[in-house]
Amino acid sequence: MPNSSNPAERHALARTPLHIIRELETGLLADRAHTSPKYFYDTVGSVLFEAICVLPEYYPTRTEAEIFSTHMADMARVIGSGGCLIDLGAGNCAKAARLFPVLHPDQYVPIDISVQHLQDAVTRLQQRFPHIEMTALGLDLAHDWVLPTEVRKDKRLFFYPGSSIGNFEPHQALAFLRHLRAACDRDGGILIGVDLIKDKPLLDAAYADSLGITAAFNLNLLRHINQLLQSDFDVSQWQHEAYFNSVKSRVEMHLCAKENLRVNWPDGYRNFIQGEHIHTENSYKYSIDSFSALLAEAGFSNACHWTDRQGWFAVMYAKAA
Ligand code: AVJ
Repeated sequence: MPNSSNPAERHALARTPLHIIRELETGLLADRAHTSPKYFYDTVGSVLFEAICVLPEYYPTRTEAEIFSTHMADMARVIGSGGCLIDLGAGNCAKAARLFPVLHPDQYVPIDISVQHLQDAVTRLQQRFPHIEMTALGLDLAHDWVLPTEVRKDKRLFFYPGSSIGNFEPHQALAFLRHLRAACDRDGGILIGVDLIKDKPLLDAAYADSLGITAAFNLNLLRHINQLLQSDFDVSQWQHEAYFNSVKSRVEMHLCAKENLRVNWPDGYRNFIQGEHIHTENSYKYSIDSFSALLAEAGFSNACHWTDRQGWFAVMYAKAA
């Protein structure tokens, strides 16, 4: 059933790569339906995520920024200066740019799914920091990726802020960290933001805010899937759910069917009964110890960390040697 009257959207869906269609269908048809969090970030979803980051309940962005402000000089002392700063999921490059004046990287390599998006930010940054060589890369970090030869080998620092690592299953997080370890020499390292385990009410509120922005972010996924898959999800039939699962140490987000319903797409359909849900995201929470152990298992050593007064979030640094 055609569902998009917007010509730009119709054009976009006509070009959805087959592997994405397959991935979405497989997830939707699974016993427990699920989707990948990467599909949150269409144009609307990216704006909603920016709004989430300034919500009073969503502490991670603000807390991490505060940790960087407070401990920047100490971080620079531990990490040293120069080398190649590789920014994983760079977006507008703002977080890394704050480190330039203390880390003085020789090369800056912002990586994101779309290079186009990066290019504007990099052009502006290059004017402010003419001495830093900048090389923007478009790579999907969720798949196998290799750094091209333009990326200098000397003193690579992988920068992965925002607790994005929380989206990976712990075994995938380990594989990802090992991949980073393999991509740097012994003079390399990693600087990473990690969200910490805390009281359930705080975690629940951070993912179910009172304005309903996170609910809109979650529900918008259905609109994006309609566009990608030409499906006919009716957003009004679904409800946002988010809660901390303390046994698995993760916040789970789901979309819950408010009534019995059927979703159709060109090559298939699925019935959902009232109360059945689609698992849309996991956001794993670690302790300093559990994440240090993960870094060690991945081949990093000498992990050290900086945290906020309440111990809600940590920025961790570890060496490749
Ligand atoms: C972008 C994965 C770090 O897990 O906190 C925020 C995404 N989802 N609110 C997170 C998110 C709902 C966010 N990460």
